[in-house]
Amino acid sequence: MSYSIYYFSGTGNSLHAAETLKEKLPDAGIYNIAVEFAERRFDIAAEALIFVFPAYAYEMPHMVRRFIKRAQIRCTYAAALVTFGSHPGGALAECKRLLKRKRIALSYAAKIPAVENFIAIFGSPTETERTKRLAMQEAASEKAAADILNRKTNRVRSFRPFSKAVSCFFRAAKPLLVKMYEVTDECTGCGLCVRVCPAHAIESGEDGKPIFHTGCEVCQSCLNYCPSHAINFFRLKTGAARYRHPEIPAIRMVLRSNPRFADAAEAAEAAPCGLADPSAAEGQEAAAEEVLPINA
Ligand SMILES: Cc1cc2nc3c(=O)[nH]c(=O)nc-3n(C[C@H](O)[C@H](O)[C@H](O)COP(=O)(O)O)c2cc1C
Ligand code: SF4
Ligand code: SF4
Repeated sequence: MSYSIYYFSGTGNSLHAAETLKEKLPDAGIYNIAVEFAERRFDIAAEALIFVFPAYAYEMPHMVRRFIKRAQIRCTYAAALVTFGSHPGGALAECKRLLKRKRIALSYAAKIPAVENFIAIFGSPTETERTKRLAMQEAASEKAAADILNRKTNRVRSFRPFSKAVSCFFRAAKPLLVKMYEVTDECTGCGLCVRVCPAHAIESGEDGKPIFHTGCEVCQSCLNYCPSHAINFFRLKTGAARYRHPEIPAIRMVLRSNPRFADAAEAAEAAPCGLADPSAAEGQEAAAEEVLPINA
């Protein structure tokens, strides 16, 4: 049995959950939905198919929603994992609904507690809370991997009217949210934000500073991966702590976001510390030089 894992991630929680699955499941391939979307690869044929994504306003990230709607899927077993900060609402129910329209049953679904990454709104969790949530994520991801390996099935409640309302409100508010990004003088023009953006919603201006366009998923990647903390948004002001999953440094996000460096992304798994790691696999460093700014 082969496994195909399709993930979407802004700050690395879902990518880490996807990588945990990949490690535990034999013959598993891992695909970034943002890359598949950009490359217009919507044909999915897998024996076991697993989606991993964060909860956004009680439902799925819009890109994941659009990807599943467009995809032509053939599989014998479908599973979904949602990472979340406080309550995933109807994110799994939405996934089930979208797959059902394609006559695919969601056989297994799991909620993976993770660190809340919308710290621009909800504030930064304490160190103790972060440690606790990281451990919970690890345990839940490993359990999900074991369940999937054993072809476990479960049921997802499908009726979630409140979640749909929250999600609709969020989508309506998105164009306003995007106007609230503010780039400070700390910006060095390094370009990392452009490279981590899964939605290609950032362009480098003449001075190298980011210009934000429509299409932003509000994934929080640029804000949190910026090495100079130069992007402010609501409570995320200069000097405020940022968040990314501790095991997903910028290099992993970038390599995984760039289809040209798929091989190097695999290598990066073997050397999770990235550039500074002397055991970095061949090819990784060269690729990193090309895609990563010097100070990331
Ligand atoms: C725009 C946005 C909306 C979110 N909405 C929810 C939510 O409805 N419920 C929840 O529990 N967490 C919510 N979160 C938190 C994320 O789902 C959670 O931190 C997730 O693990 C982030 O995954 P990632 O690091 O792979 O991007 C939201 C985060 C963002 C950025
Ligand atoms: S990652 Fe930060 S420092 Fe680099 S270009 Fe973007 S905003 Fe500027
Ligand atoms: S602009 Fe920033 S928040 Fe919006 S999708 Fe791109 S990386 Fe995510």
